[in-house]
Amino acid sequence: MAEEKKASAEVKKETAMEQEPVGKILFTEEQIRARARELGRQIREDLKDQDELIVVCTLKGAVMWMTDLVKEIPMDTKLDFVIASSYGSSTASSGVVTIKMDVESNLYKKNVLVVEDIVDSGNTLSFLMEKLKERNPRWLKVCTMLDKPSRRTTGFKADYVGFTVDDLFIIGYGLDYDQRYRGLPYISYLQSEN
Ligand code: IMP
Ligand code: MG
Repeated sequence: MAEEKKASAEVKKETAMEQEPVGKILFTEEQIRARARELGRQIREDLKDQDELIVVCTLKGAVMWMTDLVKEIPMDTKLDFVIASSYGSSTASSGVVTIKMDVESNLYKKNVLVVEDIVDSGNTLSFLMEKLKERNPRWLKVCTMLDKPSRRTTGFKADYVGFTVDDLFIIGYGLDYDQRYRGLPYISYLQSEN
């Protein structure tokens, strides 16, 4: 009886796994790292004679991309973090942005690169960039791993873009759906349930 129960639990588990709504691989870890290398070199070139940079990573989604990128920018780089949030546990933006955790560094006259996971409506970064601009950095740019321009409701444009994606809900490589899938070592998407 106990064995039967166990067997039936196994079947349920397998069925649930088959139904995991993870789509195809859009970008592999190798592709992402190669792109980080290209953008890292470009950013280094754009900063010419400058020798200091503050990287502001948006938590939590941009962590993996930031670690790839920062290794490819050969200069003295300080790391800082910010939590700006416009999403609850859903796939649609609420449009209201709040800063839940601010950066620690003084940005006045500094070179600042904001590293983001994905630009969707553009609400989060429009708001965050306005806030950071008020602190009068010398140089302020955004590098996003992914850009979803078809969903833009603002005029926001990132300075450096890893990859452009279609209107899909992206998961993996730091990006979540309800805090899940962040650890996937590739970029995929959530398949719609039908
Ligand atoms: P925006 O303010 O609409 O541009 O959305 C920005 C934030 O929403 C991103 O930094 C992500 O954290 C989250 N987001 C937007 N689109 C996706 C997605 O496709 N997958 C996972 N998170 C997303
Ligand atoms: Mg984000």
